Amino acid sequence: MIDDFQGWARSHQARIETSLEALIPTAKLSPERLHDAMRFSVLGGGKRIRPLLAFAAGELSAADEDRVTIAAVAVELIHAYSLVHDDLPCMDDDVLRRGKPTCHVEYNEAIALLVGDSLQSLAFQLLAEYRLADTPQVQLDMIKRLAQAAGSRGMAGGQAVDLVSVGKTLSLPELESMHIHKTGALIRAAVMIGACCGNSLNDSQLKNLDHFAKYIGLAFQVVDDVLDTEATTATLGKTAGKDADNNKPTYVSILGVKQARELSEELRQDAYQALEVFGSAAVRLRQLTDYIIQREF
Ligand code: IPE
Ligand code: IPE
Ligand code: MG
Ligand code: MG
Ligand code: MG
Repeated sequence: MIDDFQGWARSHQARIETSLEALIPTAKLSPERLHDAMRFSVLGGGKRIRPLLAFAAGELSAADEDRVTIAAVAVELIHAYSLVHDDLPCMDDDVLRRGKPTCHVEYNEAIALLVGDSLQSLAFQLLAEYRLADTPQVQLDMIKRLAQAAGSRGMAGGQAVDLVSVGKTLSLPELESMHIHKTGALIRAAVMIGACCGNSLNDSQLKNLDHFAKYIGLAFQVVDDVLDTEATTATLGKTAGKDADNNKPTYVSILGVKQARELSEELRQDAYQALEVFGSAAVRLRQLTDYIIQREF
């Protein structure tokens, strides 16, 4: 049964979908159009990889799945907000997301801005509203972690670097730093917050889990860069070739596809190594690592 990764992923994706459905205000509630756009942007699409990572990390600390579900929903709301803003004309200017028109195309730019604002607020509201950890201190730490990961020293900061880097050739350390912030920070938060929902891990376990999360966070964006050049728009559900069109520095533009793939393999090995201390308890995290490296979209 432990080998049934797909079954595990599907059941947890369904759990997340049900909770997102229930926790985002219904479109019957005023302001209807904003709520409708929030639901349009979050529901019925996406791989839900960050929630899956939170669940898998929660298995290391025997975390209650109801707690992890709320934490995972919060992280996914931040992620969905980041995509809505990432697609705006002032950022990547994209028209397709998760196989549907982007939020500003389906609604308008003002609504897309407000969708992002509202999803972000809802994420923190949920983290404050539900009991998610054994002590209030741990729960406050979780909230702080997500805030830092989303903010100017995390995802939003990475996005700022991404925008000023258009047309430039970054050095490898600069590129790595940009990716670690714009994508890695939130993935790292998903892993650590999932684990925080359960029994406390010791310092060495926390350190290793954090290292693991950093490796897969970077690997995730390296593979995203590769897929942008190698996969089709139909498979991706977003516009293929957009990075080159927008003149973005990526792992592909700087290293080429072959070396970018090699780097993702190295990061997979680093991630595995960081998980060694957890033995068989980390089976789902290992499977998710493989999924992140091998995915086709
Ligand atoms: C896309 O993230 C944006 C990046 C951070 C690279 P995902 O590939 O996780 O997007 P969805 O949620 O599955 O649509
Ligand atoms: C997006 O990176 C990172 C965030 C949304 C924070 P990309 O711009 O590469 O994501 P895609 O390729 O549009 O999904
Ligand atoms: Mg972008
Ligand atoms: Mg983009
Ligand atoms: Mg991309």
